[in-house]
Amino acid sequence: MNCKIATIPGDGIGPDIVREGCRVLDAVGLKFGHSFSYTPVLAGGAALDATGEPLPQATLDACLASDAVLLGAVGGPKWDTLPGSKRPEKALLGLRAGMKVYANLRPALMFRQLADACPLKSEVVGDGLDILIVRELTGGIYFGDRGRNADNTAAWDTEAYSIPEIERVVKIGFESAMKRKNKLCVVDKANILETSRLWREVTEAMKASYPTVELSYMYVDNAAMQLVRNPRQFDVIVTSNMFGDILSDEASQITGSIGMLASASLGDSGPGLYEPIHGSAPDIAGKDLANPLATILTCAMMLRYSFSMEKESAAIEAAVEKVLDAGWRTGDIAGGAEARSRLGDKLVGTKKMGDLVVEAL
Ligand code: NAD
Ligand code: IPM
Ligand code: MN
Repeated sequence: MNCKIATIPGDGIGPDIVREGCRVLDAVGLKFGHSFSYTPVLAGGAALDATGEPLPQATLDACLASDAVLLGAVGGPKWDTLPGSKRPEKALLGLRAGMKVYANLRPALMFRQLADACPLKSEVVGDGLDILIVRELTGGIYFGDRGRNADNTAAWDTEAYSIPEIERVVKIGFESAMKRKNKLCVVDKANILETSRLWREVTEAMKASYPTVELSYMYVDNAAMQLVRNPRQFDVIVTSNMFGDILSDEASQITGSIGMLASASLGDSGPGLYEPIHGSAPDIAGKDLANPLATILTCAMMLRYSFSMEKESAAIEAAVEKVLDAGWRTGDIAGGAEARSRLGDKLVGTKKMGDLVVEAL
């Protein structure tokens, strides 16, 4: 199979991790007889510097014309003082909306090899953690009306959701639960927010179609607490754009590091958008310190969801396990000072970690 992938290296650690992701895809292609071709395009700070726009139309066009899009990360201190419409992050919103990828699947999976890197007690995480956060991605407060009053003494951002927007993402939540442990938790703030109350009404009207799924509701503040108190109670969480953003970073730390968490953003048709959940990590950019595994595992999600290459996807995941089994670690998953000092030459950088996964394949 010949797959056309638009790549958006972006800013900070983005180019380094995307490079490793593509090398791993190439290794999969070689092993299984597929060819992956890449069209690198500009977005974020890199695009601002080159064109003055965070998301040039040519980038969106190239993404829409591809079979799948791989994005590293955008943003950084250099562009932090620009007005909202000219910030690198605006490119992400434009891409997500332009590609109509409303469902962002963020699995929080703890590899048993990384139990030492998990900050929770072993009796809390038990033999591992496997949660899927389904984050609504093209609505809510990220896209609602925002602004300032005339004399610049007040500002507002608006959370708004329509019934069809809620229905389509909750449907993904139910369907995902049916492929897993049949548990769905809608996380919201229905004790305060009218949008959350609408989410609950819509979910109630849908639940009869999914009789095998055990459905629950939880307020987001409690969910944030329950994630560290007893994370294994969750199977699939479906939630709004901003709550999903926050809870997925929290869940990532339970798995050891945000450098391990992949994501897939999908719509009803057209290419999927694949990105690790972390950002451009300006503090470690250009130092060969970034963990490329989130991006590599994101490529595995791409193979599974966009190309139906289940065995190829599983081969990437198995290669990552093999590398972790052999004790190789980047700094973020090295554990505490003592564990790190015991690692010796098994403490590696971005490039070497990519090499190891390629070799394991
Ligand atoms: P961040 O995720 O970039 O970094 C948070 C912390 O995690 C940092 O200490 C960083 O070093 C570490 N980290 C992140 N990814 C890592 C990896 N692969 N390996 C090892 N350590 C890793 O979040 P931030 O610092 O809040 O944001 C930095 C910039 O990235 C901002 O401009 C923000 O807007 C942007 N951002 C972009 C995306 C995206 O493009 N999808 C996502 C989140 C943040
Ligand atoms: C993410 C990021 C983005 C988001 C930002 C950079 C716009 O945090 O992909 O998780 O909030 O969606
Ligand atoms: Mn985020």
